Amino acid sequence: MQLLKDRILSEGRALNEDILKVDSFINHQVDTNLMEAIACDFAEHFADMGVTKVVTIESSGIAPAVFTAHRMGVPMIILKKQPSKVLNEDLYHTMITSYTKGTNYELTLSSKYVGENDHVLIIDDFLANGEAATGAIRLLRMAHATVAGLGILIEKSFQPGRDKLERAGVHVYSLARIAGLKKDGIEFLD
Ligand code: G4P
Repeated sequence: MQLLKDRILSEGRALNEDILKVDSFINHQVDTNLMEAIACDFAEHFADMGVTKVVTIESSGIAPAVFTAHRMGVPMIILKKQPSKVLNEDLYHTMITSYTKGTNYELTLSSKYVGENDHVLIIDDFLANGEAATGAIRLLRMAHATVAGLGILIEKSFQPGRDKLERAGVHVYSLARIAGLKKDGIEFLD
């Protein structure tokens, strides 16, 4: 998606060879016009696939997921890292390892909101090692739902996430694919 790539080139900052900072338009300040354009792209790509719900992982995936779900006319569900202390019945749980952040965390989904009749589109901001997406898919399978695909804003193609997910049969669609990060430049795959 050229609009997103242009924005990454003008405002993104490679902190090192692994981490791209996009705080000014995606995950701290959110550009809602950009989110709308992103949602149109995802909605067009995943149209006619029978998507019944959009699912994301808190917190940075929420903005693009809300816009996409609204565009597609389906509900959006947040996989929670900190389950509610009052509403903790009927939760599916799975552990995720984040190599980027060097942490483990638990991800949860309420059985109330996803079930066997759901065909789910997963939306997230970054794809790095694919651990969060793989965990999201584990939760959806526990709920007996099927996965339509994974929509990603920024894929770090030099990390193994896409390969891992494609080997597992998941359809991955990324709006910007980054081949490499250097202090003085960001290279896209195509
Ligand atoms: P994986 O899910 O693909 O395995 O990736 P990993 O665990 O290694 O990293 C996922 C977390 O790190 C996500 O945040 C993701 O947004 C963030 N992340 C990964 N690479 C980058 C990057 O280059 N730049 C930035 N800004 N973030 C990156 P999270 O733990 O889900 O938290 P949140 O930010 O969504 O709250």
